[in-house]
Amino acid sequence: MPEPNQRPTWFLISQHWLSVTGVVLVITAVLTWIFILPVQLRGHVDNPYAGLVAFVLLPVVFFGGLVLTPIGLFLAKRRIRHGFSSGGFDRKNALRRIAIVVGVTTVLNILIGTQVSYRAVSHMETPQFCGGTCHVMAPEYAAYQNSPHSRVECVGCHVAPGASGWVSSKAAGTRQLVETILKSSPKPIPSAIETNRLVPARETCEHCHWPEKFSGVNLRVLTKYAPDETNTRTQTVLLMMVGGDKYKGIHGAHVGPGIHIRFAASDPKRQTITRVQYENESSGLKEEFVASDSQKAAPDGTATIEMQCVDCHNRPTHTFEMPEPGLDKALALGEIAVTLPYVKKESAQLLQATYTSQAEASEKIPSQLNAYYQQNYPSVYSQRGAEVDRAGKAVLAIYNRNVFPELGVTWGTYPNNLGHTESPGCFRCHDGSHTSSSGKTIPQDCNSCHEPLAMDEASPEILQKLGIAERISALQRK
Ligand code: HEC
Ligand code: HEC
Ligand code: HEC
Ligand code: HEC
Ligand code: HEC
Repeated sequence: MPEPNQRPTWFLISQHWLSVTGVVLVITAVLTWIFILPVQLRGHVDNPYAGLVAFVLLPVVFFGGLVLTPIGLFLAKRRIRHGFSSGGFDRKNALRRIAIVVGVTTVLNILIGTQVSYRAVSHMETPQFCGGTCHVMAPEYAAYQNSPHSRVECVGCHVAPGASGWVSSKAAGTRQLVETILKSSPKPIPSAIETNRLVPARETCEHCHWPEKFSGVNLRVLTKYAPDETNTRTQTVLLMMVGGDKYKGIHGAHVGPGIHIRFAASDPKRQTITRVQYENESSGLKEEFVASDSQKAAPDGTATIEMQCVDCHNRPTHTFEMPEPGLDKALALGEIAVTLPYVKKESAQLLQATYTSQAEASEKIPSQLNAYYQQNYPSVYSQRGAEVDRAGKAVLAIYNRNVFPELGVTWGTYPNNLGHTESPGCFRCHDGSHTSSSGKTIPQDCNSCHEPLAMDEASPEILQKLGIAERISALQRK
């Protein structure tokens, strides 16, 4: 044992193995942390597990150590008291030195500890942690990375403002962690709306999107390619009547001031809407529309769901594509060469085939596209093999960001409500068969939501007039 009056601190700590372990843990955590800190600070770390170690595991070790040390001291208090009396050293001096050591380390610990735990909490809020650490969320993370919100953190939408939002998000996170560990997560993960958990509230969206505006009108140019030999291109041009809270248009009609639309649905995904109540506070108008077709035969239930942003924008960031629009986009962007004969038709078939895993798709999709040209267009294949290769990779990328066979996510698992061509969307209510007692229906006129300026035309006159026919295909978003 060291001379007790020389090293009272060490004397104290060494009296019990728990306090020794505690000190070792604290020092290990701090040193490891100092070493990996520069890497973490340099920017985004791609490997989510690195962050998990740095900001979750190390703080646990650190605080574990902090707790163990005083427990050890407490357990060894008899021995320590004995040591003081028989060790024959200056008790007052020893206590003073211990007080200094304890004081200084406490200040340091608070400084480092708050930093570490602050970092731990904020790391748990990064998209890498939410989407990357937890592989069952891989589909949501993949779609998110390919969306206009890819720079918005998960918590920006999924955690409601205030303490209760934070608590319920941590509760949900813990449940998900347990499910992941027990491998009991449902596959596919039910949509947030379906389970009524962590659904972004209107206030959450309006935190970033100025409620009075959300744009006036939008010019939408949708480019499509036909499944023929030359992949014939056509364009649809729609002027979307977006409007805003204060303005008329789509937003004004549903989320304008004093407007309340409540509805009842017969399924948890809210795909079949049976009853809609409309209320306009300023005009005093109140109406109820009931689905008239026999399949939707309205139950008596009252309309309790208040319509909000996510009832239309249910896929603002987890925007999964369908095979055809996915291919149209890749063709328009030049990722797939439009001049390869039948490339649209063949790629669509490859995308819709069944594979047991993404690994199997990665093996088969590019090689089968190659094989198609080898067999049917040998001269194209020998001259433009590199383009065929590139096309194969682009088709595979579409598959890999939309279909996750191991997780039960396939084409159309999560329908998008913003439209009406791929899933019912707006036509869940605007189908011309939701009727009020006075015989009025929720309108389905083709120009109430958008002015169709061109429909599937080879060279829309409107784009020629605007002089943007060529440039537009590179500027479109879909
Ligand atoms: C722009 C807002 C927004 C952001 C940012 C966002 N989400 Fe979502 N998320 C939603 C909405 C809206 C839903 C509900 C979709 C539905 O119910 O149809 C949802 C649903 C989910 C679901 C349930 C399954 C599903 O697809 O419906 C998971 C899991 C999820 N999000 C994870 C994440 C992760 C992980 C991140 C960050 C990488 C993230 N979200 C970022 C808006 C967002
Ligand atoms: C933390 C800020 C933030 C939050 C919260 C947020 N957004 Fe966004 N949103 C953005 C940014 C940034 C963009 C990209 C800029 C742009 O396209 O205008 C964007 C773009 C959009 C777009 C345009 C998409 C396109 O095709 O260009 C829509 C629609 C949208 N958001 C809807 C929503 C909805 C609905 C919610 C709530 C569920 C929401 N946002 C929550 C920041 C946010
Ligand atoms: C009735 C359905 C519906 C509701 C409810 C709705 N939106 Fe929209 N929103 C749309 C449509 C349709 C578009 C246009 C999409 C397009 O351009 O193709 C749009 C466009 C947008 C855009 C993009 C505008 C731009 O400049 O491109 C934003 C941002 C947006 N909405 C935010 C919101 C927010 C926030 C809420 C809730 C307060 C909301 N929306 C409620 C249907 C809706
Ligand atoms: C839950 C039911 C519901 C859904 C879903 C819905 N709407 Fe509506 N919408 C209504 C009701 C109710 C009205 C008011 C009808 C009236 O004024 O008689 C309305 C009115 C409108 C109007 C004004 C029509 C006019 O002539 O004044 C537009 C535009 C519109 N909706 C667009 C959309 C778009 C775009 C979508 C999909 C993105 C959509 N709606 C989805 C219920 C719905
Ligand atoms: C309740 C509003 C509403 C009504 C009524 C409506 N649409 Fe649409 N339509 C939309 C929205 C929203 C989109 C999606 C635009 C986008 O892609 O962002 C859309 C998209 C489209 C598209 C492009 C789809 C694609 O991807 O190719 C076509 C074509 C179309 N509508 C035709 C029609 C026709 C024809 C009618 C009349 C039967 C009609 N719409 C009535 C709201 C409406």
